[in-house]
Amino acid sequence: MAGISQTAEPPIRIDTHLAPGGERSLADDVLDGLTRPFKELPPKHFYDSRGAQLFDRICELPEYYPTRAERSILEGSAPQIAACTQAVELVELGSGTAAKTRLLLDAMASAGHLRRYIPVDVTESMVRTSAEALVAEYPGLEVHGLIGDFERHLDEVPVASGARLLAFLGGTLGNFTPGSRRRMLRTMARLLGPEDHLLLGCDLVKDPGVIEAAYDDSQGVTAEFNRNVLHVVNRELDADFRPECFDHVAFFDRRHEWVEMRLRSVRAQTVRVGALDLEVSFAAGEEMRTEVSAKFTSDRVQGDLAAAGLELADWYTDPQEMFALSLARPTG
Ligand code: AVJ
Repeated sequence: MAGISQTAEPPIRIDTHLAPGGERSLADDVLDGLTRPFKELPPKHFYDSRGAQLFDRICELPEYYPTRAERSILEGSAPQIAACTQAVELVELGSGTAAKTRLLLDAMASAGHLRRYIPVDVTESMVRTSAEALVAEYPGLEVHGLIGDFERHLDEVPVASGARLLAFLGGTLGNFTPGSRRRMLRTMARLLGPEDHLLLGCDLVKDPGVIEAAYDDSQGVTAEFNRNVLHVVNRELDADFRPECFDHVAFFDRRHEWVEMRLRSVRAQTVRVGALDLEVSFAAGEEMRTEVSAKFTSDRVQGDLAAAGLELADWYTDPQEMFALSLARPTG
């Protein structure tokens, strides 16, 4: 090769932090959740590859407004966010298919600062596929992906290479109950230096009918997504749940300001979880909680941010105030 000697860093690096026995946390959650008087399974176990596909279909449903609302807000505000933060790198928790990421990366590239993208997600195939697409689309972009659980592996996020924007979009913070939500925000705040910013997507409190329709769509996709956790437990822990024997339930709890999803046992039944040597009985009509998804007010968001040592720099919402993006920074 004539005269060109370059030792370019490979633009993609992916570190895996899921232990080979990654079913461990599922086993712990199932044992803990199914032996309580009020049974519960945490929502993070929805997302095997089928669950991730079902979630993508939810995002396209006419009733499920959060994805569209957040996207429209981002379309309008990404240039301002890029200008205000001067960020050179984007860290994204729960990046998924990185569908909304491009809006931010485009704005950062246009502002002339884009250097690195750090997606953090449990689904390895999605991180790899999006990393390859993004390095092709953005010349000079480095992608450093982390395969892991954002509740456990944030310490693995590399040291910032310059002004950082940490994004937690989609309203996923709503899956945390209030105390663990503040703990999660504090953990996230530790990834930020004094010049860095957090971009947080939150679904807002609104007419309960609108919220409930979004979580109980007419095509039954959300119901199938909800039951998917039973398929996951069957496969990973050798259980014999009959998903068709559980009905999908979704309702807005005004006192907690969250929507709750449950699975209701259509009749008395006993389920065996082979890997745990566990038998679990369900009474007819018994309900098991599978998700809470909190809906926020701006006061709530600001209170939670303040408890994590963060303050609001900007608040972006859609004309109907369905959803909000908060831009926050460490309290100076
Ligand atoms: C991915 C957690 C933001 O709470 O709206 C969608 C998951 N559950 N429909 C949400 C979900 C039912 C979603 N998050």
